[in-house]
Amino acid sequence: MAYPYQIQSKEQYDTIYQKSIEDPEGFWAGVATHFQWRRPWERILDWNFEEPRIEWFKGAQLNITENCLDRHLEQLGDQPAIIWEPNDPEAPGHALSYRQLLDKVMQLCHVLQRNGVRKGDRVCIYMGMVPELAIATLACARIGAIHSIVFGGFSAHSIIDRLQDAQATFVITADGAYRGNKDIPLKSVMDEALEQCDFVRKVLVLRRTGITTTMTAGRDLYWEDEIEKVAADGNPFFPAELMDAEDPLFILYTSGSTGKPKGVVHTCGGYMVYAAYSFVNVFQYQPGEVYFCTADIGWITGHSYIVYGPLLAGATTLIFEGIPTWPDAGRFWDIVDKHKVNILYTAPTAIRSLMSFGTEPVEGHDLSSLRVLGSVGEPINEEAWQWFHEHIGKGRCPLVDTWWQTENGGILISNLAGVTPGIPTFATKPLPGIQPLLVDEKGEPALPVLQEDGKTIVSGNLCIRFPWPGMFRTTYGDHERFKQNYFATYPGLYFSGDGCYRDEEGNYRITGRVDDVLNVSGHRIGTAEVENAINSDPAVIESAIVGYPHDIKGQGIYAFVVCDPDHQPGDDARKAILHTVTHLIGAIAKPDKIQFVSGLPKTRSGKIMRRILRKIAEGALDSLGDTSTLLDPGVVEEIKKGKL
Ligand code: PRX
Repeated sequence: MAYPYQIQSKEQYDTIYQKSIEDPEGFWAGVATHFQWRRPWERILDWNFEEPRIEWFKGAQLNITENCLDRHLEQLGDQPAIIWEPNDPEAPGHALSYRQLLDKVMQLCHVLQRNGVRKGDRVCIYMGMVPELAIATLACARIGAIHSIVFGGFSAHSIIDRLQDAQATFVITADGAYRGNKDIPLKSVMDEALEQCDFVRKVLVLRRTGITTTMTAGRDLYWEDEIEKVAADGNPFFPAELMDAEDPLFILYTSGSTGKPKGVVHTCGGYMVYAAYSFVNVFQYQPGEVYFCTADIGWITGHSYIVYGPLLAGATTLIFEGIPTWPDAGRFWDIVDKHKVNILYTAPTAIRSLMSFGTEPVEGHDLSSLRVLGSVGEPINEEAWQWFHEHIGKGRCPLVDTWWQTENGGILISNLAGVTPGIPTFATKPLPGIQPLLVDEKGEPALPVLQEDGKTIVSGNLCIRFPWPGMFRTTYGDHERFKQNYFATYPGLYFSGDGCYRDEEGNYRITGRVDDVLNVSGHRIGTAEVENAINSDPAVIESAIVGYPHDIKGQGIYAFVVCDPDHQPGDDARKAILHTVTHLIGAIAKPDKIQFVSGLPKTRSGKIMRRILRKIAEGALDSLGDTSTLLDPGVVEEIKKGKL
């Protein structure tokens, strides 16, 4: 059997789940023996959610890239590790075998080393979806540098926050990136950020689009030139740095309910075990299959399920540079047909957007290679689930609805393709080792409630009561924030920030965030971050952001904005706000609707009543509840009248 830890049947899932709860340490130690460690662990798990402190496989040493690459050479050396599909369907793509990928990673390690990168240094990576992005990620991991990948759609301002927080001293970027018909000038955005980050010593620049860039002497280096130098040196081998299981592997910034993104820290040993275990089991990957995850490597889905999970499993992972709707809405299906993709993992927002083009773009493409479909990032609505299952999976491919978060490292709740049943709109059951708990506002276990159909459900806030190897260990440079954000709301539990219910059979259905975090097209956006950006516009006095149901994006961003009396609210002000948000965060955070108001509904203590604004944005104008406690109830009437 290719994966001794791959669950084969529903019965086996039940038995293994039970065992994993009764003896989590024994269970994970058993899984972990199937990886290559340079030194065994002294202790499987040490934890305390009060401090909080979580340590897995303490004392063990390893390098994740030996498990992703070197380990596979003997048997899979010539198998494609990466298939790359460029943005332009006419342009030649290419594949990299495991042997070629390792060679390229080692070459880049030499480049990094020659340029002063050492174990523990933070390296910021800001690139489009090219194989070099995966190579850069793995080279950092091999040399022991902590990578912090910043999604290529983020603005200079967002990069500054992330560079400063991580105190990154080395940057890897490209001249530009192709995305659909857009050509994104990555290097010039980075240059703008670097003006305020003089602690960055070197910038390595890949030539991708050929756009003219300014290269700062002594700081900026071209990727190709540096590779040429090390290639001329001979000696291609680069030994993997020995890492402690609990050494940080990467930082990935994500939005929370405050204005400042959090640097989620994952460590080497536990993350490795969990990424591989969840990949092999959820997708039921079979050796030789082609696996295509449509996420960007700049998000956690790309980290765990384009790069690390598949490579740990010796899989063939497809990296796609472009977008689903360019040059037309048949692009995904074209790729599936061309590369004979067996497993397709995408987001509900992409499915809904492709659905809106009807089935015509699907026709004419042979999708018979598909065996498993997956969904991630937001609740998938019934209609999208059915369309994906019927028109793409032709009714024969299991569809896994995978719930997890940046903080989790890997999928926590999902059906296992073809092994445990899928239910439309339900993530279904926890993976082995995962112990969900639904609690009420007070943190007490939520109680069953009888429904009209005579069945009971348990509804509450989704927490996890026991650590798993892939969970994050801290928020970079601010352990107190880690504690307050995730472990203080319900002492003794990890709180996800999601609402959820469970049916009588123990299936979980995620209902969405219960905090001030929006999920727009599967991207997490903090309302405070957007408000801060809008409020920085000189014409704006204050603003409030809420989410509202959006047909394609899942949630849209609705902004209520109060302008300074000297500024006329109108189209110019609207344009200025959109520009400011794009400049400070990135286009993904642009409000879909901006309503100018003369005031916001506030309590007497000055707190904005978002509940009321949310109802108005949703169009539920008649169910606003009690507004008499507001400082100025009249403002609500005005806002209702002006609703967009
Ligand atoms: O609200 C949940 C939603 O996405 C949030 C996590 O966002 P992020 O850290 O960016 O990671 C996204 C990819 C793992 C969660 O708090 N979410 C993610 N997957 C699902 C989901 N909501 C419902 N169903 C899912 N399958």
